[in-house]
Amino acid sequence: MELSGKCVLTGVKPTGTLHIGNYVGAIKPAIEMGNRVIENGGKLVMFVADYHAINFMKDPERLSQIIKEAACTYLACGLNPEKAIFFRQSDIPEVFEMTSLLTNFTPKGFMNKAHAYKAAVDKNVAKGEPNDAGINMGLYNYPILMAADILTYDSDYVPVGKDQVQHVEITADIAGAINACYKKEVLKLPKAITQENAAVLPGTDGRKMSKSYNNVIPLFADANEIKKAVMSIKTDCQDINAPKNPEDILLYQIARGFCASELVQEIEEGLKKGGMGYGTIKKMMAEAIANELAPIHERYMDHMAHYKDVEEMLQLGAQKARTLAKPVLENLKATIFNK
Ligand code: ADP
Ligand code: TRP
Repeated sequence: MELSGKCVLTGVKPTGTLHIGNYVGAIKPAIEMGNRVIENGGKLVMFVADYHAINFMKDPERLSQIIKEAACTYLACGLNPEKAIFFRQSDIPEVFEMTSLLTNFTPKGFMNKAHAYKAAVDKNVAKGEPNDAGINMGLYNYPILMAADILTYDSDYVPVGKDQVQHVEITADIAGAINACYKKEVLKLPKAITQENAAVLPGTDGRKMSKSYNNVIPLFADANEIKKAVMSIKTDCQDINAPKNPEDILLYQIARGFCASELVQEIEEGLKKGGMGYGTIKKMMAEAIANELAPIHERYMDHMAHYKDVEEMLQLGAQKARTLAKPVLENLKATIFNK
């Protein structure tokens, strides 16, 4: 993929509990791609999607807490705020003006098909409730706000999880409809970037690691909590001395998804030969994971303790973001109103 001079954009939905699956599957790849684009003379635009979060979080105290946590997480995981443009979604008024304009070019049918809305309708139907029971317009219009997030900064690439690809496609369709309407390229069509071969990290019970399954190794925990989670990884009762196929062993699958290659190799050899007990492997893994996470955890705690500095940095990021946003919005308005 040609990154030279391109704009890579992604939004971070504040979610609360993060685990090492989120880290290897979403946080780390987005930061790495951002670093690559910056090295190639392009831009990384990254923001905390606080307005999207209102949709599922109405408790003001908890909402402000998870927004803080999201900002500090990305900084702790290596986002460089001096090189990237990092801010809060809500600090960019242009995005909300853009949202309002985009609604006029978005077929209602696009929103009917968006997966989060469809899932909410399916749930209602299953319960025998009216289709739209309890569904607010924030959920219904969620993809239009996301389209505004993307189009306002002239983004080229949007690294996202597979569940968000549909939203980026809707974004490109809305931009395409506007360009077709005015017969010129007013808005840039973005492309979703997913990690095609991204392995899904399994959780302690063998299902996908997910906050909904209570099977996670947390990203921000002390060594004891990490040890407790690693010790709870499911194992079988094969003889310790029996040679085993590492691919069949959950401990190995988790190690391969997260741990350094030397340790993975040691575990692989131990399992193949036989004689390396699951307890020993768990102890090695708990220690390695805790060591790997310790500096991230430390940075995270430090940012949380000095959140005023983080807020200042987000404000600086917002200023930079607005300089990108203004001309894009002005150009669209000039086209629409023949100014
Ligand atoms: P959860 O399943 O815990 O609710 P989310 O759906 O909030 O996680 O996921 C946020 C991001 O983290 C998504 O982009 C997703 O691709 C990534 N992710 C979540 N769980 C895993 C996992 N077990 N392995 C790899 N990536 C994951
Ligand atoms: N909707 C995304 C999610 O649920 C978060 C998000 C908001 C986003 N705006 C975006 C992602 C723009 C990429 C681009 O995770």
